[in-house]
Amino acid sequence: MSADGTILVTGGSRGIGAATATLLADQGHRVVIVDIAPEPLAGTSAILWPAPFDVASESAVVTGVAEIEQAHGPITGLVNAAGVFGKMHRIERVRMEQWDREVNIDLRGTFLVARSVGVAMAQRRHGAIVNVASVAGMTSGPIHAYTAAKAGVIQITQTLAAEWGRAGVRVNAVSPGFTRTAMLEAGIASGALNKDLLARPTAMNRLVEPIEVAQAIAWLLSPASSGVTGINLPVDAGYIAGTTWAAYGGLPDAPIS
Ligand SMILES: NC(=O)c1ccc[n+]([C@@H]2O[C@H](COP(=O)([O-])OP(=O)(O)OC[C@H]3O[C@@H](n4cnc5c(N)ncnc54)[C@H](O)[C@@H]3O)[C@@H](O)[C@H]2O)c1
Repeated sequence: MSADGTILVTGGSRGIGAATATLLADQGHRVVIVDIAPEPLAGTSAILWPAPFDVASESAVVTGVAEIEQAHGPITGLVNAAGVFGKMHRIERVRMEQWDREVNIDLRGTFLVARSVGVAMAQRRHGAIVNVASVAGMTSGPIHAYTAAKAGVIQITQTLAAEWGRAGVRVNAVSPGFTRTAMLEAGIASGALNKDLLARPTAMNRLVEPIEVAQAIAWLLSPASSGVTGINLPVDAGYIAGTTWAAYGGLPDAPIS
């Protein structure tokens, strides 16, 4: 779907976006990364868009996408990986500025970039988009704005898939579980997050690696998934499958061999 054009990766300077941009570039694609805090990726041919790119700003997105297409040609693949994590609070302490920030970047930003890129893809009858949602958008947690925003990302993925299906544009989502990015590692190192508590509910008893999310995204962008649109693919080491087992005493260990 994208071998003949440019793939744009938002939030490409770090974490899942960086792993995805690196993998796609290694596969031979022309990849442009944008980020609000742009930093080049070492050891990859992915091209850094040097100006800060804020997915939550409509004017910045519209202008930025036009300038990128002028410089690097039509965008035929889009990965919406820019995002911020939810702040954990009891409901009484949720600050609405924080709510607005999370919803504006995670949901509004995904919609703005998908629209700016996808309308032109639909006119050209060619393209694939992958939105990075989260298992948080499929479950509940004390991260009220984040869960709502990610549920919204899963929903608009379906709407855009239906909107552009006849125009040859596929739109899908991936929903990572807890993924071992630098930020998550820092949270574990600081003691704010507990690695065992994050891993234990998953069927596989572990965190997800950024490359594992990247591989799912690369598949959804590629012709290998040509019949797939409107789905939300969890890449969660079995978090959703395993999480209800706590009510039955926990998940079983592997049998002794
Ligand atoms: N790491 C996890 O455990 C996990 C789990 C589920 C979903 N996700 C989602 O994956 C996506 C990537 O997260 P990550 O874990 O790689 O985080 P990360 O912080 O490592 O990377 C996010 C990137 O997005 C950029 N960004 C933030 N706000 C932006 C804005 N307004 N405009 C443009 N860029 C912006 C950041 O500068 C950063 O480079 C996010 O949508 C996140 O919600 C992450």
